[in-house]
This record gives sequence, structure tokens and C-alpha cells, in this order.
Amino acid sequence: MKKHNFSAGPSILPQSVLHKAAEGVVDYNQSGLSLIEISHRSAAFVDIMASARNLSLELLGLQDKGYQALFLQGGASMQFIMAAYNLLENKAGYLNTGTWSNNAIKEAKNFGTILELASSKEANFNHIPKNYAIPEGLDYVHVTSNNTIYGTQLHDFPTASPLVCDMSSDIFSRALDFSKFDLIYAGAQKNMGPAGTTLVIVKEEVLGKVSRNIPSMMNYKVHIDKESMFNTPPVFAVYVSLLTMQWLIDLGGIQAIEKENQRKAQLIYDTIDQSELYIGFAAKEDRSAMNATFTLAAGADAETFGQMVKDAGINGLNGHRVVGGYRASMYNALPYESVLVLAEVMNEFNRKG
Ligand SMILES: Cc1ncc(COP(=O)(O)O)c(C=O)c1O
Repeated sequence: MKKHNFSAGPSILPQSVLHKAAEGVVDYNQSGLSLIEISHRSAAFVDIMASARNLSLELLGLQDKGYQALFLQGGASMQFIMAAYNLLENKAGYLNTGTWSNNAIKEAKNFGTILELASSKEANFNHIPKNYAIPEGLDYVHVTSNNTIYGTQLHDFPTASPLVCDMSSDIFSRALDFSKFDLIYAGAQKNMGPAGTTLVIVKEEVLGKVSRNIPSMMNYKVHIDKESMFNTPPVFAVYVSLLTMQWLIDLGGIQAIEKENQRKAQLIYDTIDQSELYIGFAAKEDRSAMNATFTLAAGADAETFGQMVKDAGINGLNGHRVVGGYRASMYNALPYESVLVLAEVMNEFNRKG
């Protein structure tokens, strides 16, 4: 039975990428060797790493603008630490829009003073705070572009410099002026590849300004100098990320996928809004095109809905425990057809009352 994969992460990857990755694991480019059993210093892998780094900058329109791309390990959670380790001397400002921002704040507090610029915690993070002041003299401002758990997304970014952004759950999904950011990081396991690597895009001019000693593995400069091969990189995760970026380029890049993502989001939010049975969790103006969160109205038969979802081959629709209900994650690789199937199930459940 065909599955429709709405998993929040790790999440759906393009079928063509999975097939090519599987081939590479068995026999990389007819070399008679698996990609995961050759040296990361081999010409084959050095080329994969260089291509992945270049392509990530190309997709974001950041080539030749003073940025470096790195594929690191430790997940986005490690970047909560590394960002502060490398950039925080005295005080930084963080916008608190959910669990992941909150974790980023907690880690950064190990390195300096953190000013919470604004927070929507009191409303269980169902919206993005607006009209907050950003004082002068901060080492940087940190935001989370898409709040995976709550289904909210930043549509306007603060004007601040340096600007640091956790783009784990919407990297490569929409066109932005990425040159506004000085540091972008994203765990691969949503829009880019398998778990195991994190893309870090850093503008070199913001580095080297803190007075502390930074251990090598935590130091962006060390990773830049070693072309993201200071130690053994996660070869498989980097390779699959490269294949996914090539897939995206072939589709027409971020502009093309953004249109498709908007079409998918429109369909699901229209379906939610057209029925009293579904209650969207996020404030309308802050809705995420990646993760649509909703609950059923009181008294609705959740068991029947759950069964209908299952019978339709829909996977990964359960909401995160802090929000409850349902979360439809519609990352780049999720076809429109899968969203149609979910919308049909929701409409059918609505008709049944
Ligand atoms: C926005 C965001 N930031 C950070 C993380 C944490 O990522 P990791 O598990 O790679 O550390 C997640 C995970 O879902 C996320 O969605």
C-alpha cells in the first residue's frame, strides 16, 4: 500500500534520492566499493563534500559573498552550543518561539548573558511575538525560523546584525534574502537528508571576535580551515544531502519548491478552516507552510479519525505531546498528492460528522 509520509523528522526524502543512495551504499559509481567503506580522504568523497558545500551556498544565493558552508555533527542541538561558543562575548538577544528556541537559550546561557527579546510561552507558543524592541550592543540576535512542534513560522525577520537563525525545519523551503543572516544552521533530517549531519552557513567576518579559547571541534574557524573535514565527517548523511540538493536544483531550486509548498499548505489550511470539526493551533498570520498543527473539536470521534488516517496509508500525523492533536509535516519531498489524500480523509470525516 502506498504510504503518505507526514513525519515531522526524520522525514520524507525523494524516492529517486533514496534509490540512488541505496545504490551508492552497495556500489558507489561502479567503483566496486560502497560509499560508506571508502576513506573520507579519497578523491570520491572529497568531491562529494566540496559539491555539497558549494551547492548549499548556490541554493541560498550565497556564493562569493563571504560565507562558508560546513557539514557538522551533533545535530542542531550542538549548534545551540557552538553558535554561542563562537559569537557570544557579553550579551545576545533570543526570540523565544518554542521548545527549540528555549533549548538554544538554555545552552547559550553557559557562555554569557541572554536577553529574551520576546516570548509567546504564555500562549503555549501558538504565535510569533511581534513589535519587540532590540537594544543596541548585542553580540547577536537569534531566531528560529520555523517552530516544528507548534506549526508557526517567521514571515518577517528582525533587522539585526549579526543575525543567527535555526532553520532546521524550513531550510531550502522558501525564498528569503539569505544574505541578511550571518549564521544559519539546520539539522539535515527534515528538508535536506538523513539525520547525522547539520548544515552550518557562516559569514566569516563574524568569527574571531570572542576572547575565549574555543576547543577545536567547537570552533567554526577550524572546520572552515579543514574544509569541513577536521575529523571523519558523516559520509552517508553528507552524500544523501548532496543528492537531495541536486534533486532540488533539478526541480528549479527554492523558488520552484516554494510554490509547491504554498500549494500544499493552502490545501491543508483551507481544509482545516472550512470545517468546524478542525481547530488550527497556530495563529493564522503565523502559520507554517511546513508543519500544520490542528486538533479535533470537542466531542469529535478521534478513534474513527485515527482509523481513517491509518486506512489511507497516512504516516506520522500525530501531534507533538506539548500541543496534542495532529501535525501534518509537509516538507519539500512530500508530494501534493499526499496532501490531497489527507484533505480527502479530513473532508470525508467531516461529512460523517
Ligand atoms: C527547529 C528545530 N531546531 C532544533 C531541533 C533539534 O535538532 P537535533 O535533533 O538535530 O538536535 C529540531 C528538531 O526537531 C527542530 O525542529
